[in-house]
Amino acid sequence: MTEPVSLPTQNPHLLEWVDQVKRMTRPDDLVWCDGSEEEYQKMARLMVDTGTAVWLNPEKRPNSLLIRSDPADVARVEGSTYICSEREEDAGPTNNWRDPVEMKAVLREFYDGCMVGRTLYVIPYSMGPIGSPIAKIGFILTDSPYVVANMHIMARVGTAVLEVLGNRPEFVRGIHSVGYPLTGAKQADLPWPCNAENKYITHFPETREIWSYGSGYGGNALLGKKCHALRIASVQARDEGWMAEHMLILKLTSPEGAVRYVAAAFPSACGKTNLAMLTPTIPGWKVETIGDDIAWMKFGEDGRLYAINPEAGFFGVAPGTSMESNPNALKSVDSNAIFTNCALTLDGDVWWEDMGVDAEELTDWLRRPWTPESGRTAAHPNARFTARADQCPVIAEEWEDPAGVPISAIIFGGRRASAQPLITEALSWEHGTFLGSIMASEKTAAAAGTVGELRRDPMAMLPFCGYHMGDYFAHWLKIGEKGGEALPRIFYVNWFRKSDDGRWLWPGFGDNSRVLKWIFQRCEGTAEALPTPLGLTPAEGGLDVEGLELPDEDLEELLSVDKELWLREMDSIREHLATFGDHLPEALNKQANALEARLKSL
Ligand code: GTP
Ligand code: SPV
Ligand code: MN
Repeated sequence: MTEPVSLPTQNPHLLEWVDQVKRMTRPDDLVWCDGSEEEYQKMARLMVDTGTAVWLNPEKRPNSLLIRSDPADVARVEGSTYICSEREEDAGPTNNWRDPVEMKAVLREFYDGCMVGRTLYVIPYSMGPIGSPIAKIGFILTDSPYVVANMHIMARVGTAVLEVLGNRPEFVRGIHSVGYPLTGAKQADLPWPCNAENKYITHFPETREIWSYGSGYGGNALLGKKCHALRIASVQARDEGWMAEHMLILKLTSPEGAVRYVAAAFPSACGKTNLAMLTPTIPGWKVETIGDDIAWMKFGEDGRLYAINPEAGFFGVAPGTSMESNPNALKSVDSNAIFTNCALTLDGDVWWEDMGVDAEELTDWLRRPWTPESGRTAAHPNARFTARADQCPVIAEEWEDPAGVPISAIIFGGRRASAQPLITEALSWEHGTFLGSIMASEKTAAAAGTVGELRRDPMAMLPFCGYHMGDYFAHWLKIGEKGGEALPRIFYVNWFRKSDDGRWLWPGFGDNSRVLKWIFQRCEGTAEALPTPLGLTPAEGGLDVEGLELPDEDLEELLSVDKELWLREMDSIREHLATFGDHLPEALNKQANALEARLKSL
């Protein structure tokens, strides 16, 4: 057992907790992560030595790694994710709940000796720029070098965080283990150690703790992201009067040079990264990125909502990313990137479906030979890249501004083949909150489970809200009362509507700039809108479709509201709202009634 010669902190709260976790998990070594380049290289070497990672061809992709996980550990596991609030009622009907004392007892058994043969890494991280008044500090105590390396990219990590924290006790306490001690018959490590049968992603909102066990993948393991910046932060935000949302943030500049900032909440794998980095197809417009997944929004002194991106990197969906669909994401991963569950080319580069490059012979994500005739995908559908935000060619210069950027518009959206129009504008903040509360989207590979199944995913927060969703809606309404006239306008988009014969009706990607332009003009007061039962839609000729080969019938269908279909949908909307019981704000029932009345009078 090697003890660190000198400790990088004297914080008694931190030292005591680290010591407790060490005694419980019994690692062979303990390392305080400093966030240095040497440390990153050391993690890379460790992963290469155990077969977790391979270096990609440095001539193709310098300083980049490919990692292939166990097939039993490829996505977030919502069924094994728990909100362990003291009262069951506070977790609400959309979260799995376990009593915190009981849950900790279960996990203590799993954690008992779970790091034998391994090293415990203490990762100090800051969500938000280090030292900024809106940033929050957390620690992950993990036995996974993969987590250390990814956290280096995804957050601000290292000794500077300890200096800012000083001796204060205010930090989020995260424990993470892959759940595979190197003991007994399991002396040799696996390329991707995990505990497929016993995964627990647990949150203790009152004590700001996260205990994660058994999975090494993405949001299950990189605890700063969904666990801290959404599930724990949403509870803090409710208590302190701000918002922690599953939203991208973008900067939109018009040909005249006017700037508007837009935030958008789409469920996992429904287009946030793509919209955040979009290359407009309409002349003169510019989109720059502030963030691609999470927004923390607070009221500024002028009464407007200001958003910051608490992250420092992107953990983006690889399949579908091409020079055509998202060149800026591809350029962000030119070098210094980590790829997980992508395929490997014969010349040592990565490949995935719809990358826009032909493939003949590959090694697939399961390390088997692959050709286009193999009849299966070469990359896992939830294959991901980890890239530094500052490598994005269109990162906005103000992306790290601790004051954040003032938000003019909030966009909700989901993946729906029918029903939901391309674009509608909410009639008010309250109406927008209602539209967000009934968001419906087809499930994607970002979470384990059935892909394609339609589910309600309010504000894209279904898997990420750390408390009762009914109270969360009430919090939105409270923000609305506080914000008044200065609030962002709310919109709802659907890039995924299909024709009866299964074609995408809307080209999407760069052409989504056409919808952003209308949103921009609505904020400026220069675009007309027509009422529909769901909200406002562009007046005839209001949406810029110049240069698009979009048949008039398709545009009409894209903007249409099917009265009969929506009247039938009212039952499922009411059933959904009823699940929140007496936590549901009455205003949302009233909005449902108003929607039904508008539909009937159509
Ligand atoms: P998470 O990282 O899981 O939160 O996902 P995300 O919301 O950032 O989704 P992302 O931008 O990575 O897109 C997911 C998938 O949707 C990719 O396969 C994209 O190619 C596809 N996609 C994104 N935008 C569009 C669009 O406008 N139209 C269509 N048809 N597909 C899109
Ligand atoms: C999501 O699923 O929304 C993601 C990926 O952004 S993960 O980090 O795994 O949650
Ligand atoms: Mn996400």
